[in-house]
Amino acid sequence: MPDHLTIVTHPLVSHKLSIMRDRETSTAGFRRLLREISLLLAYEVTRELPMTTRRIETPIQEMDAPAIEGKKLALISILRAGNGLLDGILELIPAARVGFIGLYRDPETLQPVQYYAKLPDQLEERVSIVVDPMLATGNSSAAAVTLLKQSGAKNIRFLCLLAAPEGVARMKAAHPDVPIVTAALDERLDDHGYIVPGLGDAGDRMFGTK
Ligand code: URA
Repeated sequence: MPDHLTIVTHPLVSHKLSIMRDRETSTAGFRRLLREISLLLAYEVTRELPMTTRRIETPIQEMDAPAIEGKKLALISILRAGNGLLDGILELIPAARVGFIGLYRDPETLQPVQYYAKLPDQLEERVSIVVDPMLATGNSSAAAVTLLKQSGAKNIRFLCLLAAPEGVARMKAAHPDVPIVTAALDERLDDHGYIVPGLGDAGDRMFGTK
């Protein structure tokens, strides 16, 4: 994936995202749309996985059939909103290994504070995809990627639903080797670190909390 930032502008993605942004969309609707969009985004973020071939026998003859090379992918969810993206992607890549990183954003400093981490083994041999719907300040995302790298991961991609320019810039400065895939790049952050126009708090929208 050569570009640092890929914006997935497929009509289905953009249409579903607009419904998710609408404040009138219910929790159930938001969750369903997030699962559907995550399948489409997963398709994009895995587009350039290394390939090999596997000798198989069809009912007609033998052939060298394309197959994804290497160890199972690692999907790393940043809690809690990351889990909304994770569920859909796991339908597409059921054999993936899954890790979780718990970070909360200090409301005063907007800096990430880690409270949980459980990661798959042999990260150095896997492609890792970090999932978090909202790339806002980029502080949590950059911290999660730093932790992954400290744990051995070398080939990392970042998948989100919405990105703010500030978050993209922060990630590019901290981790220029990590490509980002998103459904949209919004205008800016507000004073509370929310993406504008955004969709509000992704975790609250998907879990029905306030
Ligand atoms: N996290 C969210 O859930 N929403 C934002 O707008 C920014 C960060």
